[in-house]
Amino acid sequence: MSVAQPVATKAPATTDTLTIRDDRTGKTYVLPIQDGAIKSSDLSKIKGSPDDLLGMLTYDPGFMATAAVKSSITYIDGDRGILRYRGYPIEEVAQKCTFLEVAYLLLNGDLPTGQQLADWSDEVTHHTFIHENIKKFIDGFRHDAHPMGMLMSTVAALSTFYPEAKRIADETPRRKQIVRLIAKMPTIAAFSYRHVAGLPYAYPDNDLSYAGNFLNMMWKTTELKYRPDPILERALETLFILHADHEQNCSTSAVRVVGSSKADPYSAVAGGVGALYGPLHGGANEQVLRMLEDIGSVDRIPEHIERVKKGELRLMGFGHRVYKNYDPRAKIIKRIADQVFEVTGRNRLLDIALELEKVALEDEYFVSHRLYPNVDFYSGIIYQAMGFPVEMFTSLFAIGRTPGWLAQWEEGLLDPDQKIARPRQIYTGPAERHVEG
Ligand code: CMC
Repeated sequence: MSVAQPVATKAPATTDTLTIRDDRTGKTYVLPIQDGAIKSSDLSKIKGSPDDLLGMLTYDPGFMATAAVKSSITYIDGDRGILRYRGYPIEEVAQKCTFLEVAYLLLNGDLPTGQQLADWSDEVTHHTFIHENIKKFIDGFRHDAHPMGMLMSTVAALSTFYPEAKRIADETPRRKQIVRLIAKMPTIAAFSYRHVAGLPYAYPDNDLSYAGNFLNMMWKTTELKYRPDPILERALETLFILHADHEQNCSTSAVRVVGSSKADPYSAVAGGVGALYGPLHGGANEQVLRMLEDIGSVDRIPEHIERVKKGELRLMGFGHRVYKNYDPRAKIIKRIADQVFEVTGRNRLLDIALELEKVALEDEYFVSHRLYPNVDFYSGIIYQAMGFPVEMFTSLFAIGRTPGWLAQWEEGLLDPDQKIARPRQIYTGPAERHVEG
């Protein structure tokens, strides 16, 4: 049996290596381990035969065990229920920061000084208006169009209004589009609601905070000046903060994948909105509400749980790819709920949600599968109490997530390791065949 030379031409100085023996050939390969990972491309040197040009691949649907990027933005320890933005615990930023401070932190790596925050807030505030023609697009949607469909299309359309967005390698235009996107997402989301509600669009109010202005654009009617309730304004701001980034989730990966082809940021973010729309991702907050409505009363919970355990449906708002412990965001949201209900009155669905959580957390199926409430479980109940229609819930998630998407998009772009995303496949179709005749 022949033993091949190790792949690593120079053995790494440390013992951080992985030795693989290919039983097909008897060859042994020593691969360096860095940051707890091997480079998948090192596996390509493992070949079953001389005419095997591709070498070994890893098969990983859903990227369960594949790190596609290096990132310094968000840290999650799913077993211990830890989430940090640029090193700051989520509990602290949720309590002590404004959403624009958090956006600045995600994009720039550190919290802003007083002057930096004033400049940054001023810049975002002065880009909240949208071109009048964009209103015409929104007018053109069906009367019952889903707000996420409108948001996705309108964000994509923005790229046609800002052709300089293509200059992604130039810092000045790149940063300008980042400001525009963060500033305009609430405007587009609120306008899509007003379109469906048949209400005139309410223009941004520069005197208000980011969250306060969004509430203004949603709810302002005949009053000369809209004044948001400070508790609801802060609750919404905190919800935006909790959604601001979550490392390489489905929508962020979509943004990075689109961005890897060097598309402009509007196209990349539109891709992210599309990914977020799905019921397994951001769309779950809408589905949780529909599920709680369907259950209808506490006494029907056992029946629902049984159906989930039989595999007939999923318990929406439960489970997470990374968290195998209580989602720290869900804990904070539960606390916000109490503050919101002081103002709005208690949402009747809360009792069903609390009991559902209790039953699930004691049930062997959920315990053994390590399924806990995620960020979407309680957020919808708060949004509903605040008056948002169920269809708007995922747009609220999208507004919060926009700085994260953009920070990740830019980090990818500036990463010398970035390559166009292009996974391999294992072909399972027919071998070559021919059309008869
Ligand atoms: N209800 C019932 N069973 C579940 C659930 C659930 N919510 N989530 C996972 N499982 C089971 C699943 O059936 C499977 O069981 P088994 O191994 O016996 O076949 C096991 O747990 C692993 O599930 P998976 O689908 O392989 O896990 P995943 O990591 O691919 O999926 C998830 C993660 C979030 C898509 C999933 O937990 C889910 O569908 N949850 C409900 C939707 C939801 O709340 N999504 C919001 C996620 S958090 C915020 C966000 O990202 O937007």
